[in-house]
Amino acid sequence: MKKLNNNINHLISTDDMSQELIIKIFDTAESFLEIGQRDIKKVPLLRGKTVCNLFFENSTRTRTTFEIAAKRLSADVINIDIPTSSQSKGESIFDMVDNLIAMGTDIFVIRHSEAGIPKKISNHVDVGIHVINGGDGSNAHPTQGLLDAFTIRKYKKHFSGLTIAIVGDIQHSRVAKSEISVLSALGTKEIRVIGPESLMPNNINELKVKVFNTIEDGLKDVDVIMMLRIQKERMNNNTIPSESQYFESFGLTQKRLQIAKKDALVLHPGPINRGVEIDSEVADGKQSVILNQVKFGIAIRMAVMIMMVNKKT
Ligand code: CP
Repeated sequence: MKKLNNNINHLISTDDMSQELIIKIFDTAESFLEIGQRDIKKVPLLRGKTVCNLFFENSTRTRTTFEIAAKRLSADVINIDIPTSSQSKGESIFDMVDNLIAMGTDIFVIRHSEAGIPKKISNHVDVGIHVINGGDGSNAHPTQGLLDAFTIRKYKKHFSGLTIAIVGDIQHSRVAKSEISVLSALGTKEIRVIGPESLMPNNINELKVKVFNTIEDGLKDVDVIMMLRIQKERMNNNTIPSESQYFESFGLTQKRLQIAKKDALVLHPGPINRGVEIDSEVADGKQSVILNQVKFGIAIRMAVMIMMVNKKT
């Protein structure tokens, strides 16, 4: 991510984000939460601006919450339906972007199965046009990493005292990568990654995390458990034996939750595969903050867009 006087131009990754900037995003998001409680959930801060959602990969939460966030800020929102767009006639993504800029787009939110596409588009567009990575391959999902840490801050406050475990398919998860960089920048006491060796990235030892290959060892004394979905769409072989065997070894059950601290939070970015990585009893239980992640995601996305457009915020 490029830092411009601690403001945001494009949001491609959280890897080089300062703690100061992350806290500024969180504080701005905090001020937007209240808008979601109003009868008329709208402020005019992005009136006259156009946000374009370009999702080349499926999404429920990210695309919808970006749309809601932009509409709460009074922006105009365009959702391009990729399967019915002229991409099917051979138009390149750069030509598509140029045409959408000609139509007045100010902010692009881009999701793509290929890592690096949002970065390439951010290099392509002119000054004044902003690009947000809505998830690129297994690379990064910056607003998810931010909203997950923001959710933790709502309940736990001081990252310097927290042990946080990320459980599951670390290798294919762009969410895990963004979570690790945000939690590291925030000074988290200990970040653990838990999962089978076959689902750990090759560079795991370069990251500032502790690796556990059994969930029973990894969950001891943790304050926060962040579950991940198995990303079957990014696997080209049978990396895991079967869903039932995976659940047997790494699924979060009520019994396993009791290994963590009594007040441990349970997070999941969604979509959930119940009975694969998490039991319904836990997903819907009182320690789960999964639906609050979704709600807080709107405020985080409002904050990011406003900080891009209004550099004085
Ligand atoms: N968390 C997340 O990215 O969900 P979607 O795929 O539904 O956007």
